[in-house]
Amino acid sequence: MQQETERGAQGPQSQFEKGHRVPIQHHKQPGLQKELGDPKPTNTQLPTEDNGYQTYKAAGKLKGKRAIITGGDSGIGRAIAILYAMEGASSLITYLPEEESDAKTTVQRVEEQGQKCHTIALDLRKKENCKKIVEKALECLGGIDILVNNAGTQNMIEDIKDLTEDQWENTFSTNIDSVFYLSKYTLPHLKNGSTIINCASINAYIGRPDLLDYTSTKGALISFTRGLSNQQMKNGIRVNAVCPGPVWTPLIPATMNTSAQEQFTSPMGRPGQPSEIATCFVFLASQDSSFISGQSLHPNGGVVVNG
Ligand SMILES: NC(=O)c1ccc[n+]([C@@H]2O[C@H](COP(=O)([O-])OP(=O)(O)OC[C@H]3O[C@@H](n4cnc5c(N)ncnc54)[C@H](O)[C@@H]3O)[C@@H](O)[C@H]2O)c1
Repeated sequence: MQQETERGAQGPQSQFEKGHRVPIQHHKQPGLQKELGDPKPTNTQLPTEDNGYQTYKAAGKLKGKRAIITGGDSGIGRAIAILYAMEGASSLITYLPEEESDAKTTVQRVEEQGQKCHTIALDLRKKENCKKIVEKALECLGGIDILVNNAGTQNMIEDIKDLTEDQWENTFSTNIDSVFYLSKYTLPHLKNGSTIINCASINAYIGRPDLLDYTSTKGALISFTRGLSNQQMKNGIRVNAVCPGPVWTPLIPATMNTSAQEQFTSPMGRPGQPSEIATCFVFLASQDSSFISGQSLHPNGGVVVNG
């Protein structure tokens, strides 16, 4: 009865409640947040109309910190930029030129929290661009305390025989090469207490067969995280990873077929919201995680994985 009342207060039944876990749709890459709309994976388990931001209680955990957030225009990256701003950090977000309109919305959401959000639209597959991003961060933020390697791409292919060499190389250059370059160029500017946080995926642990190239890059990211953590410990720089499960973002309708979208859920009976992933990025960037490095957090709706 209580549930009925809450549901009623949140308006008419959405497609989610009628049986689909997500409202199935197909978009071009890179997906845009504004085309995705603002759906809620369920309206019984999420506390607010505002994807969780309203209930988040900030406590100045990142006061005065300066962050680079790749792919900060939409999805998980946008949520990280907003929560970081709520915690007192300014940021430089990166995105692809086609995503300008989404990036403007992120800037507005960050500014509403009283923080600066700088922008740079560049393709991360080029190492020169990764260098430019670090230069821009130093110029506009005056330094870097947090590097969030969040940008990523995927494309579904059922069988290795149909997975082209071009796709394999493109996924690796987007998802892992860029992380190496950005980390390499950022590290000389990081100080004791700084952090690097990489966005991996549940797929690195479950070995998703129709995302072989993507899954491989995310596994590489976990190992990169561990190796770099062991290497940089002596400098007081912590390196960790976040491994989301299904999250309703523009990447999904831009890359997943109808059947995959129909099964896009978790043991909690719903996909996650970007803000539910971004809280892990806040924790790993803040002093609260000062004894944690080389590790992975698993906001995945309850799938138990090893690692
Ligand atoms: N959505 C999920 O279910 C899910 C699950 C596990 C992991 N992830 C990871 O989360 C991260 C963020 O994805 P999202 O789901 O928020 O989707 P998203 O589409 O909102 O964000 C992906 C971003 O990556 C950036 N990007 C992609 N290719 C790029 C390139 N060549 N150069 C520069 N930028 C590029 C784009 O700016 C884009 O905004 C990705 O690494 C993704 O693999 C997502």
